[in-house]
Amino acid sequence: MSEGAQKKPEKPRKFQAIRGTRDLLHPDTALWNRVEQTAHEVFNTYGYGEIRPPIFEPTELFSRAVGGDTDIVSKEMYTFSPEPLTRLDALRALILSAKDYWGGSDYPPRVNEPLQEFVNVLKSATSRGAIPGTPENIADQAKLESLGNRLDQLINVEDRPDIGEVNDLCEQAEKLVESLQFQDAVTLRPEATASVCRAYIEHNMQQLPQPVKLYYMGPMFRRERPQKGRYRQFYQIGAEILGGPDAPAIDAELIEMLMTFFQKCGLQGTELSINSIGHAADNCRRGYVALLRGELEKMKDKLGADSQRRIETNPLRVLDSKLEHEQPIIATLPRIADHLCDECKTHYAAVKHELELRGVIYRENWRLVRGLDYYMRTTFEITAQGLGSQNAVCGGGRYDGLVELLGGPPTKGIGFAIGEDRLILSLQESSKAAAPQGRDIYIAWMGERAYATAIRAAKDLRNAGFRVELPPTELKFGKALERASKLNSRFALILGDHEVADGQWTLKTLADGSQQKLTEQALLEYLRTVSPGS
Ligand code: HAM
Repeated sequence: MSEGAQKKPEKPRKFQAIRGTRDLLHPDTALWNRVEQTAHEVFNTYGYGEIRPPIFEPTELFSRAVGGDTDIVSKEMYTFSPEPLTRLDALRALILSAKDYWGGSDYPPRVNEPLQEFVNVLKSATSRGAIPGTPENIADQAKLESLGNRLDQLINVEDRPDIGEVNDLCEQAEKLVESLQFQDAVTLRPEATASVCRAYIEHNMQQLPQPVKLYYMGPMFRRERPQKGRYRQFYQIGAEILGGPDAPAIDAELIEMLMTFFQKCGLQGTELSINSIGHAADNCRRGYVALLRGELEKMKDKLGADSQRRIETNPLRVLDSKLEHEQPIIATLPRIADHLCDECKTHYAAVKHELELRGVIYRENWRLVRGLDYYMRTTFEITAQGLGSQNAVCGGGRYDGLVELLGGPPTKGIGFAIGEDRLILSLQESSKAAAPQGRDIYIAWMGERAYATAIRAAKDLRNAGFRVELPPTELKFGKALERASKLNSRFALILGDHEVADGQWTLKTLADGSQQKLTEQALLEYLRTVSPGS
């Protein structure tokens, strides 16, 4: 098309939030803030300090901590991986053997094809963000591509390729492959317990007074099938206790704090389920798992595909099954409580006793095994009302071996994570009370002098904590009052040049339309008697 030709402008694409992610909007965000503020306050009263770990970490941190066979690690992680790395060695070997060939007499190895394929992998990996699309990498890729094309021509098209040139090209290819910059695979965090343990080790927190009590809040990422209460970016509020003695009171106090938090949030219909899954020893969980596997083998044919697979990979997870037809089978299986070692049995009994001392009501659920590998002994989950099938609003448990597994000293650990999206959903379902919104004072000003006074008044009132709306352009009083009521304002402060000259300001109460004339001083004093935001 010639430069002058007019192309009909295309309508710009409209974007939408990616499936499984969403915008949290006002006024909902006010409720999110209230919940988070409550967490800060309650957790502080129990001596917890906040930690803010990064949103992404080395992939291996999660695969090691959460477990390679878990759903999270095997299929739900958002990972940016340098996949061409695995092909690098093979490619290098090919280039070397190609170079060798030209001194020998065998048929030339087809170095061009793998090189071409490698370039393609590289390109798609870069476009997906799997390797950094730095200008250097992109330039190297382009050079590799043209090298590949030239090699292709030399080997496949030309009868008598110039051996010197082929060698030279192979050498160049080797250097380019060498200079490509790769990163360690990284993953958007699917949970934060692993990060907190990593931070505990990295910052030598074992040297602080033990146990160390930490809490966090923020987004997590799992590639799950989105539905009500299940998102791909979701938010957790979590807490972890690391180090310290083997005291069941620690488990119980953590759960007490959690229930206090839920109560302060006004969460309705909470149910706490607890269990103990013992520890990894032959006379405890390992023995039980072997027994369970044996029993499951006997009834394998009656189980669904997922459960059949889990008999091998993780038989405990079969107990998690929600499939209707598996329920009668699961009901007949041996129960872990009957197969705990003496220490774990005593620990579990003591946790229950400690919960009773604290007036925490619980229900025992022998099938509560949780979906992450790091758990041992105490596990727990809390459900709330109004959430449908995704009704677990919190999950947690003990993980004594995890810090050691991540290269730290032997350290005890226990914690929980609350699904904040679900907590908010449940709060919204059970109470129709809207989050606080609107304005305390709308300043209806008219005239230049009045405007200067209005700016000053707005500043003073905001300093005193009032939510103030100051319209940026002049509006007729009627229009201004209309806006004031649309914004749910409690008062309108009417300031015209007249009012300013007289030093008598008009305050209108929007609920009943009553008006009073007050001096600036008297008005501020009057407003202070009505609390901001109420
Ligand atoms: P989790 O059970 O995987 O445990 O997650 C805890 C809570 O996060 C769940 O009960 C649920 O409320 C919420 N949640 C999980 N996935 C989603 C999702 N896709 N959409 C919305 N909410 C979700 C953990 O993450 C462990 N790190 C808890 C822990 C801390 N254990 C010991 N310390």
